[in-house]
Amino acid sequence: MRIEVFRTAEDVAAAVAELLITEVQRDPAIVLGLPTGRTPVLSYERLVAKRHRVSFRQVRTFNLDEFVGLGADHPGSYRRFMERHLFAHVDVLPAHIGFLDGAAADTQAECERYERAIAGAGGIGLQLLGIGNNGHIGFNEPAPELAARTHRVVLLPETRRANAADFGGDPDQVPREALSMGMATILHARRIVLLATGAGKAACVQRMAEGSLTTMLPASFLQVHPNVDVLLDEPAAARLGRR
Ligand code: GLP
Repeated sequence: MRIEVFRTAEDVAAAVAELLITEVQRDPAIVLGLPTGRTPVLSYERLVAKRHRVSFRQVRTFNLDEFVGLGADHPGSYRRFMERHLFAHVDVLPAHIGFLDGAAADTQAECERYERAIAGAGGIGLQLLGIGNNGHIGFNEPAPELAARTHRVVLLPETRRANAADFGGDPDQVPREALSMGMATILHARRIVLLATGAGKAACVQRMAEGSLTTMLPASFLQVHPNVDVLLDEPAAARLGRR
């Protein structure tokens, strides 16, 4: 794991935007795995501000996860989130946007379709990740076992609380389940870039980078991937190196 610490969250976002521009310039048909959450919002903002420098016309994207029961048009859906923060502002083609359909009648079939679509695109070249306060990545929640592939998951109460902002601030309005890429889906990306900002992430960042591998902190499995960059602001890095 290569860890890079920046002074502020804005500095992290600027670095992420540059990194994405460089990667897309190097491989205009790159397959990007994309996260939602508050953390990447600034990075998407910076990227949109620099959109004249790069074209997304050949880029393909696959988002990590979606809430069960929410269609693409639901204001709380991750699909709408991505539209608001990135897709509406760059020249990515709608047909190149891969997303889990939370409203699918057969969620098992939907998860299998998603795995096939990712494989059909040649796999994920660059996976951007956030990290949940409890160490989840995508919606792979801490548990005695982790699913390898895209699957349906029951969200933990802390995760529903963390996602309440897009549901009128009420955790009870956040769907109880989600569809998420699995750990192997994520770990098969050729390159992974994880972002974490703010003091609230310091403890899980420390365990992710310096702790044992444990299914109770899914992000700890990133330690086995050969090509992971972790971009942190100072508050998120505060606990590193002082076990
Ligand atoms: C959600 C998403 C994750 C994200 C996490 C952290 O649970 N499914 O992909 O990393 O939130 O969100 P935030 O960046 O808002 O702390």
